[in-house]
Amino acid sequence: MTAPSSFLLDASGIRKSFGATAVLRGADLRVAPGEIHALLGGNGAGKSTLIRIVSGSLRRDGGALHVRDDGPNPIAVVFQELALLPHLSVAENIYLPHLRRGLAPVRAARRREEARAALAQIDERLAREALDRPVAEIDLHQRQLIEIARALGSGARLLLLDEPTANLTFAESERLFAILRRLAGRGISTLIVSHRMKEIRAIADVCTILRDGRTVIDRRPLADLDDAAIVEAMGQKTAPRGTPAGAPDAARPAGTTVGIEGPHLSLALAPGTVLGLAGAPAGPGALIDALVGAAPGGDWRIALDGAEADLRSPARAVRLRIGYVSGDRAEKGLLTTLPILDNVVAATRVAARRWRVRGREAGVAEEALARLAIKAGSIDDSPLTLSGGTQQKLLLARWLEHPPRLLVLEEPTRGVDIGTKREIYALIRAMAANGTVVVWWSTEFPELVEICDRVVAFDLRGAVSGTIAGAQVDEVALARATGMAA
Ligand SMILES: Nc1ncnc2c1ncn2[C@@H]1O[C@H](COP(=O)(O)OP(=O)(O)OP(=O)(O)O)[C@@H](O)[C@H]1O
Ligand SMILES: [Mg+2]
Repeated sequence: MTAPSSFLLDASGIRKSFGATAVLRGADLRVAPGEIHALLGGNGAGKSTLIRIVSGSLRRDGGALHVRDDGPNPIAVVFQELALLPHLSVAENIYLPHLRRGLAPVRAARRREEARAALAQIDERLAREALDRPVAEIDLHQRQLIEIARALGSGARLLLLDEPTANLTFAESERLFAILRRLAGRGISTLIVSHRMKEIRAIADVCTILRDGRTVIDRRPLADLDDAAIVEAMGQKTAPRGTPAGAPDAARPAGTTVGIEGPHLSLALAPGTVLGLAGAPAGPGALIDALVGAAPGGDWRIALDGAEADLRSPARAVRLRIGYVSGDRAEKGLLTTLPILDNVVAATRVAARRWRVRGREAGVAEEALARLAIKAGSIDDSPLTLSGGTQQKLLLARWLEHPPRLLVLEEPTRGVDIGTKREIYALIRAMAANGTVVVWWSTEFPELVEICDRVVAFDLRGAVSGTIAGAQVDEVALARATGMAA
């Protein structure tokens, strides 16, 4: 009774609940051969859940799922990390799945050659130079390419990429996209999730939009939808673009002046300044570590109101009311063994060095969650039950009730949906207007252009290459100063 479909993947009416929470409530998704298809939706809409169902790692409660019979493994998820075995070589990682499928044993040399050929289709240089190196020595972007090679080697016709560029530089994203386009030309399809509108438009042909677990836009060419229509379909407010950050010294809120002294840089940031950091991770990363007490004894000297700050530990930084939110939520920040409530009030507790009464804390947490429109079942749930972008908002919520003197942000909008990004910009600007000094590292140049009074650029080796102020902050200037393409 299965009607032959021209679609590689045809999913309709997919339903899935976790406990009492209905996450997918009628999701449709159809992907044709050779297309690059964007799966869009706000944080918590159900995109990752749908991907897990389509790839077979999660069972659906209802709905129909047809995959065109195109060989043994037509659909493959390209994971962001961890799916490769770090101690094995690149070649071994590529041919490993064939062994597991129990194909006739073939000689190692031949397997290696097949792996080389699979990788060469994607990146000749990588195939030439990295084939016998352990994956542990390979950077994240190249690991992704190896995963794609492995998927193709196993016969994949549809690649599923869930926020593949979240941890890539702009140039790396461009390289990945060029490869996906080449594969599309050979009939290989890609389903990609991203919260970066510019990037979606650059790579995808068609889109499907999920809202609260239902498909609200089904296979529409992106060219037919403008940004406002997409944001509206996702069910998000189109928050007005904020007024550009004011000229330095325009307003003088009360607060702390932050001094930053280091190699080729000496800055005094007046209360309310939003300072951007631009460039490859080495430079901004080292300064951020110094600011948050993670690099005592390094090159940077930090002063608060003219007095050198003793930043010998992160706890000390928090007590000096220096806040920190990292986009690397799994590694830095999320308290995964504690409920949502404790995650929200963590900073207050460290700062106050005492536990508050539960009733008051609960009120504070609920209010912070509401301000950021954080979708959570209960504040007693684990933060791991939240979608990726929602976890990110949780880290920001931590600082709302207890505004820091200096707020250090490291890619804080990574994985955050378009509507919420605007809300976060507004929140940060409001905190700055109340005197908080903000230091913000982002690899998304449009974000720096929109919110920063001044930007310090670092070159690819991590050295300060210049500061750009006020109206001079634009994407071209940032690209030039950082050596990264705009
Ligand atoms: N194991 C689980 N237990 C309970 N709830 C879950 C579980 N996994 C996911 N959810 C819930 O399902 C909803 C959808 O999550 P999902 O990760 O699919 O969203 P998403 O669209 O990928 O969001 P994001 O853009 O933030 O990555 C969320 O509200 C999340 O809290
Ligand atoms: Mg997700």
